Amino acid sequence: MKFLVTGGAGFIGSALVRHLIGASDAAVVNVDKLTYAGDLRSVASVSRDPRYSFEQADICDAAAIAGIFRRQRPDIVMNLAAESHVDRSIDGPAGFVATNIVGTYVLLEASLAYWRTLDPAKQAAFRFHHVSTDEVFGALEETGAFNEDSPYRPNSPYAASKASSDHLVRAWHRTYGLPALISNCSNNYGPYQFPEKLVPLMIINCLAERPLPVYGRGENVRDWLYVEDHARALYRVATAGRPGSSYNVGGRSERSNLQVVKAICAQLDALRPRRRGSYAELITFVDDRPGHDFRYAIDAARVERELGFVPSVDFETGLGRTIEWYIANEEWWRAHLETRYAGERLGLAAGH
Ligand code: NAD
Ligand code: TYD
Repeated sequence: MKFLVTGGAGFIGSALVRHLIGASDAAVVNVDKLTYAGDLRSVASVSRDPRYSFEQADICDAAAIAGIFRRQRPDIVMNLAAESHVDRSIDGPAGFVATNIVGTYVLLEASLAYWRTLDPAKQAAFRFHHVSTDEVFGALEETGAFNEDSPYRPNSPYAASKASSDHLVRAWHRTYGLPALISNCSNNYGPYQFPEKLVPLMIINCLAERPLPVYGRGENVRDWLYVEDHARALYRVATAGRPGSSYNVGGRSERSNLQVVKAICAQLDALRPRRRGSYAELITFVDDRPGHDFRYAIDAARVERELGFVPSVDFETGLGRTIEWYIANEEWWRAHLETRYAGERLGLAAGH
């Protein structure tokens, strides 16, 4: 079995590539453009395995992608390549429209053309798995959770671009019969996450004794899933999910942003005490994100019932592992801080 994983040098993609090589017999082709968010060091632990190969390519480049399908002949395609940061989508949506929408279209067309060349048994076994987000469903109030029938109501340019790509995938299944399926996951955290996102930014700012910028009053709620659990869920969806279906994946770990930041501070107070006081003293409330979704929560009943997926770690355990990883792997994130992103505030729509 050969998997073609796009975005395999990113945060979730690299966790998936490590999982596929480590926990299955499959071969993996990692297709990644290596944008600011891509880092081949994140797959260094598996890159010498003979079952692993890498193709540097842009998913918007139809000729390059067609060539990769001809050479590699995958059994399962998993699309994780994306522009993924909401704040960057507010400042500059163009790249989100290009990669997330047009790139998914290019990949669907390449998959369909290739799929049509397969014999019936291979056609029946082929899967196109599109990896998406719960943000396509918009924002929740204090109660309720998103299930697979929740209406699409994306609010940020990022969420709108992912919603568009989900619709394309659905259409390529319904119209052309491509065996495609979608998963919509909640917020991930864990090792190798680019420092622009909440959890790594807060850990790194604590370690540097810098302010911890909490948007608004820190009351927005996210449902957190440890990235290695997400990788396991993705494997289940791609290999056992029903084509034409979608699966909501979540951590059953709702926390307000302030709770998340305080939990990071408390764990670091124990692991790496400051000379005086608590890291929580660094918390600084800053201007809110424009259009900030209040709450996301996932009803994961389908993926639990049909695919037997449940997260293996709770939030506090996963957070502890994540913090220890960032402490032990300073050279990984310091290289990004020095060359790609220095921790500045993004997403205030400056110049847009
Ligand atoms: P990431 O930003 O860490 O990684 C994205 C990867 O895609 C990078 O390696 C980048 O180089 C690559 N890439 C970007 N544009 C490309 C292009 N045009 N062609 C080829 N490669 C390209 O993102 P992530 O957090 O790992 O997210 C992966 C996927 O999971 C995305 O589709 C995202 O929408 C989805 N998702 C993320 C979360 C989350 O909490 N991070 C939650 C749910 C779903
Ligand atoms: P983020 O990690 O950007 O993920 P998403 O926007 O996709 O949910 O942000 C998670 C939450 O944390 C979101 O409500 C915005 C908030 N946030 C802050 O309060 N401060 C920060 O510096 C960042 C990056 C995010």
